Amino acid sequence: MVVAAAFGLAACGFGEKGIEVSKSDPNYDGAVLFATHCSGCHTLSAAGTQGSGNRGERTQGPNLDQRVESYEDVLFAVQNGGFSGAIMPQNIVVGKEAEAVARFVSKYAGDAAESSPRPGQTSP
Ligand code: HEC
Repeated sequence: MVVAAAFGLAACGFGEKGIEVSKSDPNYDGAVLFATHCSGCHTLSAAGTQGSGNRGERTQGPNLDQRVESYEDVLFAVQNGGFSGAIMPQNIVVGKEAEAVARFVSKYAGDAAESSPRPGQTSP
């Protein structure tokens, strides 16, 4: 997998490493929405997000690199505030934006689950 590392997104200031989806990709909008709205709680490499201070945080959501999610599940989680409705806010994004995020997440979530079966393994 090619990691398109250095994008010039430095001005954003929410601490992401950089979106790994190319600007011409139809999922780029979803990646940006994810990076701006979901990155505080969820790790997802394709959006360059690392969650919040990783493990310790109460609000930390599941690491989406390690979960395979369907489009329907992501949309459900966004509309209902996760599956339990406990911590994740409902409707952080709605309508077309929610759909774009769901498409992006369902495509890119679970990457690590496929490519590195053992936690802690850095590269294949
Ligand atoms: C305030 C922190 C927070 C934010 C912001 C947040 N989430 Fe979550 N999310 C969580 C928590 C905590 C869970 C797990 C608890 C639950 O499922 O109710 C979760 C669960 C999920 C799940 C289900 C994962 C699984 O397999 O159980 C998905 C998908 C998801 N979030 C996507 C998103 C998307 C997309 C966004 C941005 C639109 C987002 N989240 C924003 C905290 C957050």
